[in-house]
Amino acid sequence: MMDGLRQFLLLLGLSALVVNGKSEEFEGKDEQLVRNLTDKLLQVIPPNANNSKVFMLVTEGNRITLNETDQQALNSYLTLVELHLGGNLVTAVPAKYFSRLSHLRVLSLARNSISSLDPEAFYGLDVLEELDLSSNNLTDLPGKLMTELKSLKILHLQNNPWNCSCPLLNTIGRMKEANVTIGSPIIPCASPAEQEGKNLLDFINLCSTSSPVTLQSDLKSPSAPVTSKHSKGINNKPTTTSTSQNCTISKDQKPVLGNTWKFTVCVAVLALATCALILTAIKGPSWYKRFHNYRHRRLQKDDEEEEQDTVSTVFKETRGCGSQQTFMFEKLSHRIEEEEEEDGYFEDPYIKGAEDAEEEILEAH
Ligand SMILES: *[C@@H]1O[C@H](CO)[C@@H](O)[C@H](O)[C@H]1NC(C)=O
Ligand SMILES: *[C@@H]1O[C@H](CO)[C@@H](O)[C@H](O)[C@H]1NC(C)=O
Ligand SMILES: *[C@@H]1O[C@H](CO)[C@@H](O)[C@H](O)[C@H]1NC(C)=O
Ligand SMILES: *[C@@H]1O[C@H](CO)[C@@H](O)[C@H](O)[C@H]1NC(C)=O
Ligand SMILES: *[C@@H]1O[C@H](CO)[C@@H](O)[C@H](O)[C@H]1NC(C)=O
Ligand SMILES: *[C@@H]1O[C@H](CO)[C@@H](O)[C@H](O)[C@H]1NC(C)=O
Ligand SMILES: *[C@@H]1O[C@H](CO)[C@@H](O)[C@H](O)[C@H]1NC(C)=O
Repeated sequence: MMDGLRQFLLLLGLSALVVNGKSEEFEGKDEQLVRNLTDKLLQVIPPNANNSKVFMLVTEGNRITLNETDQQALNSYLTLVELHLGGNLVTAVPAKYFSRLSHLRVLSLARNSISSLDPEAFYGLDVLEELDLSSNNLTDLPGKLMTELKSLKILHLQNNPWNCSCPLLNTIGRMKEANVTIGSPIIPCASPAEQEGKNLLDFINLCSTSSPVTLQSDLKSPSAPVTSKHSKGINNKPTTTSTSQNCTISKDQKPVLGNTWKFTVCVAVLALATCALILTAIKGPSWYKRFHNYRHRRLQKDDEEEEQDTVSTVFKETRGCGSQQTFMFEKLSHRIEEEEEEDGYFEDPYIKGAEDAEEEILEAH
């Protein structure tokens, strides 16, 4: 009776828990998916106090500057998929500012006063598909932009004072190659003077057609072209020092002729060393024996000069260290002598000169 009642109560409790959990989830989905804080005169982004799974945050038309306080607040919205920050007072986006919002697909920074973007401003936004930078104060874009925004599909650029010289034209050219859609068909240039007011998108091929090395772009842009030039410079210098210590070739270095033979030598040396190790492992014991034989003979040769019996002197020395040790040494020396008598000195080519002397000694024994 009591058992049945207990089980019934337990079941009741469990089912209540399940129902509660479900209803909470549904409530959350209904209420907290979108947080719309448009035109609230906010100076900072309010943190996600409830830790709810907000997927869309709209804080447009406020006075947000995107400082460190805002970044901390944003890091409490880790489930964000859309972030709308248009119409605020943002002037710059620091490096890795959104790096923890790894689910973000839409980011709008339109209608701010952004004049500088850190080359790593959008670091970590690997799934970002749409970026709105329209109506800001930008003259240039980081050349690195496309390597960070791997999934970018749509980019809004209109209404900025663009400097339509080679760095920007090359960056946008690479985006077009990656099939990024530029949000507007006409992006007017502000500089240089001869391109003022004309459509940026008409000039994209201007720099890339004089293709092999566009010197201007390589010198000025702080991003991809410069780094590649830089690495070329590095390639030339330390090849002699680095490859001698380090058999690996770094990934982006194309194996130049000077490097390939060094690499081959490295591999050959490695192979030889491995062979030597294997040989040592196999032949080790026999070499050890020979070494002992050799040393033993040398000792005896010395004996000849000093006219003394070494075996006995060694005995005397070791006896002081305790009886066990001396006993073991006695055994070992006996074995070595036995081996010597069997095959030792006729096989060893180095000892042939000393053979006669040794025979004399053995006879004396
Ligand atoms: C946010 O609220 C404003 C008015 O307060 C409204 O105009 C806008 O459409 C809303 N945005 C979203 C995404 O709900
Ligand atoms: C926290 O969630 C409750 C409802 O669960 C809501 O009434 C409240 O406004 C939320 N607080 C914030 C700061 O969003
Ligand atoms: C960020 O800006 C807000 C509003 O201007 C200010 O209250 C806050 O102290 C700033 N935070 C930092 C870290 O400067
Ligand atoms: C745009 O940036 C320039 C300097 O690059 C500055 O002089 C100008 O005031 C800025 N304009 C706005 C609207 O922020
Ligand atoms: C535009 O960019 C080029 C190349 O980076 C630079 O030489 C020039 O001074 C820039 N012009 C303006 C008005 O910023
Ligand atoms: C861009 O699109 C074209 C056709 O729409 C396609 O052939 C090309 O492979 C695409 N390039 C990339 C990098 O996706
Ligand atoms: C090996 O060389 C690469 C590039 O040449 C370098 O990044 C790496 O640190 C080197 N490793 C060692 C153990 O020296």
